[in-house]
Amino acid sequence: MSTPGRFIAFEGGEGAGKSTQGRLLAEALRARGLSVVVTREPGGTPGAEAIRALLLDPPGEAWPSQAEALLFAAARADHVAHLIRPALARGDWVICDRFVDSSRAYQGGAGGLGDPAITALHAFGSDGLRPDRVILLEGDEIALSARLEARGGAADAIEGRPAEYHRAVAAAFRAFAEADPEGFARIDAIGTQADVHARILAAIVDLLP
Ligand SMILES: Nc1ncnc2c1ncn2[C@@H]1O[C@H](COP(=O)(O)OP(=O)(O)O)[C@@H](O)[C@H]1O
Ligand SMILES: [Mg+2]
Repeated sequence: MSTPGRFIAFEGGEGAGKSTQGRLLAEALRARGLSVVVTREPGGTPGAEAIRALLLDPPGEAWPSQAEALLFAAARADHVAHLIRPALARGDWVICDRFVDSSRAYQGGAGGLGDPAITALHAFGSDGLRPDRVILLEGDEIALSARLEARGGAADAIEGRPAEYHRAVAAAFRAFAEADPEGFARIDAIGTQADVHARILAAIVDLLP
């Protein structure tokens, strides 16, 4: 019997290091002989990537917030059905850059739709699938925005929202982690990439076979 697949989601604001640390964790797991799928949201499958393009660069006017939440849930349903569940069923590890807690924090929290609405969409769209562990990367707003400036590139439709919106996102993530300390690992995102990686490994060691 192979070991069961494990599902790790990286969450946090833009610039927190989700993509960087997801890659580093995947390398570390592969070095232990595990099969790892690295993916992201919104996106991860052709259908969900097509929806991503609609979300991050809306044609016409900005999406009404309810439509935005529905599009995220639709993209996630495709991603879960066509990529995440099959990978977990094979016994692979899945590392996902953002998952449903981003919808809860952005659309539900900062966007004002509320957690029950987002949770209900997720129950319908993806049968309520939860990660085995959420790695929540947290750090001082000013330090993280300096990283983003160094990374360069233009902000998308969601990144470009005002600082208060991003502060509300961070507060929502913190509240979810406080409400579910088993499901979330709060990781200090400040420090070298190697330091942060070591904190993350320590936070998932109990899931290793
Ligand atoms: N520990 C770190 N210290 C300094 N810069 C970092 C660190 N981790 C990542 N970066 C850089 O900060 C920027 C944002 O990281 P990234 O992984 O893209 O964040 P996210 O995916 O959460 O938006 C990138 O330019 C990345 O190279
Ligand atoms: Mg990223």
